Amino acid sequence: MFICYKYNKVIKETYVTFRRKIQLTAKTMEELVSLCKRRGFIFQSGEIYGGMQGMYDYGPLGVELKNNLKHAWWSAMVYENDNIEGLDASILSNPTVLKYSGHEDTFSDPMVDCKACNARWRNDLIVDSKCPSCKSSDLTEPRPFNLMFKTAVGPIDDGTSFAYLRPETAQQIFINFKNVVDSSSKSLPFGIAQIGKAFRNEITPRNFIFRVREFEQMELEFFVVPGTDDEWHNSWVQKRLDWWVQQGVPMESIELYEVPSDELAHYSKRTVDVMYKFPHGLEELEGIANRTDFDLGSHTKNQDELDISAKVMENKSSNTRLAIQDIETRKWVVPYVIEPSAGVDRGILAIMNEAYNIEQLEGGKERTVLKLKPHLSPIKAAVIPLKKNNDDLVKLASDLKSTLQKLNLGRIVLENTGNIGKGYRRHDEIGTPLCITIDFDSLEDMTATVRDRDTMEQKRIKINSLPEYLIKVVNG
Ligand code: GAP
Repeated sequence: MFICYKYNKVIKETYVTFRRKIQLTAKTMEELVSLCKRRGFIFQSGEIYGGMQGMYDYGPLGVELKNNLKHAWWSAMVYENDNIEGLDASILSNPTVLKYSGHEDTFSDPMVDCKACNARWRNDLIVDSKCPSCKSSDLTEPRPFNLMFKTAVGPIDDGTSFAYLRPETAQQIFINFKNVVDSSSKSLPFGIAQIGKAFRNEITPRNFIFRVREFEQMELEFFVVPGTDDEWHNSWVQKRLDWWVQQGVPMESIELYEVPSDELAHYSKRTVDVMYKFPHGLEELEGIANRTDFDLGSHTKNQDELDISAKVMENKSSNTRLAIQDIETRKWVVPYVIEPSAGVDRGILAIMNEAYNIEQLEGGKERTVLKLKPHLSPIKAAVIPLKKNNDDLVKLASDLKSTLQKLNLGRIVLENTGNIGKGYRRHDEIGTPLCITIDFDSLEDMTATVRDRDTMEQKRIKINSLPEYLIKVVNG
């Protein structure tokens, strides 16, 4: 039996909102959206033609921040754990995969049409049986709307040859299970990690990059011996909380939500959601689910010969056994799966929200400062020559920029505008941890003024010790 998991998700989000009341943080979404556009983090997609709902483009600084966040996740998963391997699978998905995963039948949201203004709404957004836009009560009954995007494959678009744009990255991990096991000689417990785009035709995309139609996920499928799953689940919840704290999302802004059994996804034995206090309210940042043996059990051949505990659809199409042989008992085991699944875009929103600060300065002035963790900052250091037309200053600054760039810590910029104050303000606002000024004394004594973003303190440091200094700042 399948239970519609998107329905459940809708109920869950509504439930949380009513239960805990919306707690707004000090910053508004408008402030964040404005900073993102002004400084080149995130733009509305297709803006010059009026924009497209639920789609955003990451600008020069946004792409750096996003890459840094994904790198932090990849390091924590793949590089720090020898029993986790990576994968980068295709986005276009064979419909058969999404048939056996349950998505064709169940991946839908209840949708309502307003007969007066023709607007379409997700049912949970209807308050007092009225259209949120024109307030008419002349609404249709809710009906399921499948959220998967379809596209034609090949030159003839007659509906017979099509693919789905994957609605989660997870399914490609399950169908590659045997490829990864065979090529990397893995035994349980082990994991497969993937970062990539997912697509959902959300009925009502909203709240900036929180609910969009095209987004990125960072998903780990961690395969364990059945019976050890509860313990592994708890341990992954803790690991994921620790990781979010390291990215600058403090525990004070997080709540764990134990999804009640009647609201669980069709594949889940237990799910714990990491809820974050977004500017628009408390909502899901990441879900950590025990998917049991549902997915491998659904996609495997010879289902009858395997001990599958989940209620799966009969599968006569698969040509591969998705199980692992126990070396001692020689028995084939379909592993259970623990899945921490985080949204990159929601992560960016939470991190930006936490980092955004307006500080009152002496003399009635104020500054906007993005106190990002340095490993996430789009620019790690700005090297600023005191005068832009002075060849000696510019040469020394430019050489320093090249030296620091070679450390491979991320982007270093040469800020050759000649306006130190303006440079400091810009780099505070985009989260650059250090500004390094090269002045006339630098030519004499080979020192530079280093200004710290958070304390605004300035100190003179020998230029040849700046690489080591920057490594410490960025790597903590
Ligand atoms: N594989 C499990 C899965 O996809 P999910 O709770 O539907 O579970 C996981 O999605 C994460 O993906 C969410 O916690 C959220 O961070 C992100 N996500 C889901 N839908 C999204 C959307 N429309 N826009 C942005 N992020 C989304």
